[in-house]
Formats: sequence, C-alpha cells, structure tokens
Amino acid sequence: MPLAIELSGITKRFPGVVANDNVNLAVEAGEIHAICGENGAGKSTLMKILYGMQAADEGVMKVNGEVVDFASPGEAIAAGIGMVHQHFMLASQLTVLENVILGAEPMKRGNRIDIAEAKEHLSEVGDAYGLTIDPDDLVETLEVGEKQRVEIIKVLYRGARILILDEPTAVLVPDEVDELFRNMRELKAAGTTIIFIDHKLEEVLAIADSITVLRQGRTVASVKPADVTTGDLAELMVGSELPTPDTTGSTVTDEIALTINGLTVLDEDKRAAVDDVSLQVHRGEIVGVAGVEGNGQSELVAAIMGIEEVVGGTISLLGNDITNVSVRTRRESGIGYVPQDRQSEGLLLEAPLWENAALGHQTKEPFSSGPWFNRAGARQRTEEIRDQFDVRTPDIDASAHALSGGNQQKLIVGREMSASPEVLIAAHPTRGIDVGAQAAVWEEIRTARGTGMATLLVSADLDELIGLSDTIVVMYKGRLVAELDPATTTPRELGSYMTGAALDEEVGS
Ligand SMILES: Nc1ncnc2c1ncn2[C@@H]1O[C@H](COP(=O)(O)OP(=O)(O)OP(=O)(O)O)[C@@H](O)[C@H]1O
Ligand SMILES: [Mg+2]
Repeated sequence: MPLAIELSGITKRFPGVVANDNVNLAVEAGEIHAICGENGAGKSTLMKILYGMQAADEGVMKVNGEVVDFASPGEAIAAGIGMVHQHFMLASQLTVLENVILGAEPMKRGNRIDIAEAKEHLSEVGDAYGLTIDPDDLVETLEVGEKQRVEIIKVLYRGARILILDEPTAVLVPDEVDELFRNMRELKAAGTTIIFIDHKLEEVLAIADSITVLRQGRTVASVKPADVTTGDLAELMVGSELPTPDTTGSTVTDEIALTINGLTVLDEDKRAAVDDVSLQVHRGEIVGVAGVEGNGQSELVAAIMGIEEVVGGTISLLGNDITNVSVRTRRESGIGYVPQDRQSEGLLLEAPLWENAALGHQTKEPFSSGPWFNRAGARQRTEEIRDQFDVRTPDIDASAHALSGGNQQKLIVGREMSASPEVLIAAHPTRGIDVGAQAAVWEEIRTARGTGMATLLVSADLDELIGLSDTIVVMYKGRLVAELDPATTTPRELGSYMTGAALDEEVGS
C-alpha cells in the first residue's frame, strides 16, 4: 500500500525565517503519526502546507502515492485531507449543525439548505466514528472538549480520510484527553490516518504509532514510541539535555497579597458560576486552582481582573478593597494577568510585537513618558522580553500573528512577568509551550515567587499544578471543594475531586 502522506524536501521561507528547511515526512496509511518539536520548529507550517493553506517554496507532496499541489484547503479536502487547527475556528453564535455544514451545505429545490439531509449525514458520521454531539446546541455554550469534537466532526463530514490535529490536547483536561484518544483509536480502526502535533511527550508515547521530530525547521528524527523515552524525545527536540528543575523549599510568607472573600459571580442564566468562594494568596506563594473547564475558574479569574461583575463578596489586593475598581486601576496596582485565550484576550494579532508588549501596561514605565506612549521604551522592553523568554522571532516589528502559537504564549507570559507584578493571575500560562520553554517559564515563576510575587495559577495541566503550587484548591460547580497538599496529592486524587467522584464517595460513606 502506498504511503498516505509523503512529503519530500519541503522548504518554506518567511521574511527572516526558514520555517521548513528541506523537511521530509512519511506517514503510513491507517497510522497515528505524531509530530514533535520546539515552539517555532515549523510543525504548524508544515501541516498548513499539506492542507493547501500555504504554498511551499520547494518540495514535493504525495497523497496516497499521487503527486499533489493544493492551491487551497478546498483542494486538500477534495483529496480527503482535513485539518483541525491549533486555534479553533468555529462561529460561536451558530449551532453545531450550522458550523459543521458551513460551506458544505446540502441544497434542495428552491436553493434552500436541506437541513434534514444535513442532520442525517451528521448523525451518520457521528455513528460511524462514535462521536456524539447535539446538532442544535449553540457552539458558545459548549465546553472546550465538545468544541473540539465539533471541529473533528466538521472535517469528517467533508469525507476526510486523513486527519490533521494541531495540538488537540493542549486545551483538554485529562478526562477529555482520554476521550479524544478513544476517538482517535476508533477513527484509526475505521481506517483513518491521523497526523497530530503534541507537546506532552507522555501522550505522544501513549497514542502514536510513529513519531517525526522537527528542530528549527528540519526533520531530525523519525522514531517508534517503543524505542524512545520522553527524555530521549525532549533531547531530540531541543538538541541537548533538559535542565532538571530546581525544587527549592517554600517561600510562602505571612503577608497576604490577595484575599477573596465570599465571592459570587453569576452566569448568563443567573446561576452562581462562582459560588461563595474564599481564598487567600500570600506573598511568595503559588495557589493552584484545579478543575474541569467550566466549573467557574474562568469567571473567578475574570472577576478578579474586573472583567466580570461581582454580585457578592470582596476582593482585596495588599489590604485594599478592589472589588469595584476598574480593570486599569487593578493593573496599575500590581496585578499581572495571563488570560486563558491568548489570541482573543491576550494579543492584538495584527499589531507589532512591541505594541503587544505594552498591552495592559501602557500607562506605566517603560511604556509611558508622562501622557505619551514611549515607543523607544516599548521597543527596548520588547527586546528584553524576547531575550529573557526566548520568544523566537526575527524581528520585534513582526505582527503577533506571525509568531508560532507557543511563542505568542511566551510573549504574553514575558510581558506580564517583566512588569514585576505583586500578584500574578495566570490562566494556563504554559498552554502550548514546548517542554524546554515550559521548564523555563516555571523557573521564572519560581524565581519571582522567591522575591514575593503571589500567584493564582489556574491550570488544566495537573503536573504543572502539582509541581509548581504551594497549595492546590479544587473548584467544582463554582465552589472550592477541596484543599490539597501538592507534596502528597496525586493526579488521580486531584482528578477524582475535579469530577466530583471523591465528593460522592464522601457523601455516600
Ligand atoms: N505567517 C507567518 N509570517 C511570518 N512568519 C511566520 C508565519 N507563520 C509562521 N511563521 C514563522 O515560522 C516559524 C515556524 O512556525 P510554526 O507556527 O510552524 O511553528 P510550530 O512548530 O507550529 O510552533 P508551536 O509549537 O509554537 O505552535 C516560526 O519562526 C514562525 O514565527
Ligand atoms: Mg504550531
């Protein structure tokens, strides 16, 4: 049988960067093939070329043994290739069905969309691959794992036999990852070829049949999971051994930096999304918040930042009540913020990096001089952030959308950390960041903790929560239901609180 995908000598240049440099990739039909590599290694670019979104400067692509040259995703789709992007592309105001059929609507007489036919096809696809979802749900009401399922169904609906998933697990909690992997195995059993990108190397070893490693735009290795450890993979990716983390003792002080008292926030249906939550973060402390997405963590963070209305309770920063002050005042009083969605909340994608580096900090040094924006100051700070946080870019005048996903994330973390905040509110700070850069970000956070920074860390990465936090609280249905010691807890125990299973047991016993 011919290879499902064979890419030879693919080269793609952007101004100042060779994103793909003579890359080769061979994917067998019916296998799950992982692509690993540092942030900016060229993974997404290679996949966009295969999907017809970008044109290679050089190289040959074969699909099922035939030479192809896709001028658009439409042509790739016609050849049976489908791609789910690193950043979802669903229309949130539309239903699941509307999203799935968008651009591929079955028509009936009178030039009207044949909804019945669309629904039937959707349910056939769902049944064939064991993927279920209510076609009439509004996409904005779905949880992340469900949105991803819609993206996958959308691609299968168009008849994809070769599926590209760009960092599908980055936004998922462990249970959702299990579910995705079950789905992937079912798709494989039904004959689908899957190429996927992932920074979590244990996951790669668990699901992949073969692995291709890219480094700085080049193919450096092609291996089988049975022959490598996660350490080997990391070394192949970065070209050297990873530093072992410095796990210095506690730096928690008696001084309280952030107090949240009886905080209540309502959702659109006027139900408590955050329900009477109280917690404290001391200077020098990292408090981790664990929870399955959709249990009030986003609303908690938004309320602390002043983006979401508080209907009960108080928030105070270093002894000052900030419950009712503006977002700007909060920022100016020393709260740093890494938002959960880097593209919609964290960046101006069309603006240059130096403008992005000032976002949220415009009124402070070095970005302002008196009432004016200090361009030179902003440029200088951007260069510092780039160097310290290893944001891979040829140029600080590049726009944020030209950065790879992980490098966008590093820019945001660097921006917030370099302002030396008193309190850092960090939602998924290392989402999409490669293992080497993740270790570096953890080190930055630990160092700042040592000098007194208080951190509220919301994360779906249980290893991150356990490795970084001084205390972990679990949020479930808007409430804090457990407080655990990271030194003794396990991902399994955390997981059982996150899903409410541990609580049911307590109630039952
Ligand atoms: N549209 C663009 N314009 C300019 N440069 C780009 C563009 N897209 C990607 N690049 C550059 O190409 C290189 C590879 O980026 P790519 O997005 O493929 O990386 P990646 O391996 O997917 O990284 P990540 O793990 O962070 O998602 C990076 O240096 C990036 O800045
Ligand atoms: Mg990418």
